[in-house]
Amino acid sequence: MKPLAQEDRQTLVQLKSDLIAQYDDYCARQLSLDMTRGKPCAQQLDIANPLHGLVDGTNYFSENKTDCRNYGVPTGLDECKNLFSMITGIDPSLIVIGNNASLSLMYDTLMRSMVFGEIESDRPWTNESIRKWLCPVPGYDRHFAITETLGFEMIPVAMTPDGPDMDKVEKLVASDASIKGIWCVPQYSNPDGYVYSDEVCKRMASMKTAAKDFRVFWDNAYAIHDLYPEHRRRIPNILALAEQSGNPNRFYVYASTSKITLAGSGIACIAANADNIARVKKQLSLRTIGPEKLNQLRHARYIPDMETLEGIMKKHAEIIRPKFEAVDAILFEELGGLGIASWCKPDGGYFISLFLMKGTAGKVVDAARKAGVLLTPAGATYPYGKDPDDSNIRIAPTLPSLPDIETAIHVLGICAKLVAVEQLLDQQ
Ligand SMILES: Cc1ncc(COP(=O)(O)O)c(C=O)c1O
Repeated sequence: MKPLAQEDRQTLVQLKSDLIAQYDDYCARQLSLDMTRGKPCAQQLDIANPLHGLVDGTNYFSENKTDCRNYGVPTGLDECKNLFSMITGIDPSLIVIGNNASLSLMYDTLMRSMVFGEIESDRPWTNESIRKWLCPVPGYDRHFAITETLGFEMIPVAMTPDGPDMDKVEKLVASDASIKGIWCVPQYSNPDGYVYSDEVCKRMASMKTAAKDFRVFWDNAYAIHDLYPEHRRRIPNILALAEQSGNPNRFYVYASTSKITLAGSGIACIAANADNIARVKKQLSLRTIGPEKLNQLRHARYIPDMETLEGIMKKHAEIIRPKFEAVDAILFEELGGLGIASWCKPDGGYFISLFLMKGTAGKVVDAARKAGVLLTPAGATYPYGKDPDDSNIRIAPTLPSLPDIETAIHVLGICAKLVAVEQLLDQQ
């Protein structure tokens, strides 16, 4: 296969007409396929069916005899903290259990910083006339939406297979006190599926920051979500690293069971060092007389040990791995060797990150939509929805069926080639 850019005009014109014919065939099929969001499919949700029966009208007491129907236990049940300790490797005493969404814990943390500041702050962040936030790119659109809404100027930093470009991160945070924090998805990053190296974790924990109240939002959403358990790598305990590096207050860690049990009815947690957690607890005690504990109890009973947890994650992998592999194989079949696309083959997480020829992603997403295939909007993986290269597309393979994914990725491949050929012809 020859790179498209090396083809002569006549070949490109012929290719364009072949591709239009293929595209029109797909349009005639009146497809309606949605590849936009990283949701688990029904078969994955079914894995958790035994969960529902684990608490009924007779067995609502926790291990220490708390009646979970009542108010109280603001930081969560001990057995649920043990579950999150298994997931994150963090000591249970540093974990606070939330309700069903880690995203709302992240939002709450930032809102607290806006209103009250952090331990070292001179003033609430809302009183900082300029506040900035580092955003590794491509990244998670909902993270960016939070910092945008709260008035942070978002600064993109390139991702590498080892994590964010730390030379750039260190330089920026050392020189600009208005940079208050950074989003990080350290294990199977969204969307590239990269795992931060030990070196990146160490540098993140030890770097010098001009802002004395700098915070890292360490969103470990995919902490144990391996597609290939045999390739498993684990990031270090970041709270321990921060302590050793003399920056004990730097990290807030988040995790949830959204992609372990039920995306809409799971359990989430925040973890941090003792001083940060003391502040979280104080504010929590004003916000609620106690969280929903029956679901905590259900989860703790459903996943009592590491063996059970690993068994569940294996079942997820068995369902979604063929979907990831189909995306990879069809991308290769459609786009391999043409010099117009590259993509990652992650060992875990929920996404495949596709980079197309610069300046074509938006048009490709539009063309796919017209053929009945909905993709995440081009640019969504960048702050303000603006990918400066107009190149990245996030593929979310978990929700659709395998045949739907196969069709959708063929359509995507054809659209990518067609738009690239048109651009090359325009440039000649
Ligand atoms: C990186 C990342 N963090 C958080 C979430 C949402 O997690 P939760 O369901 O716990 O709010 C997602 C969901 O796609 C995600 O990709």
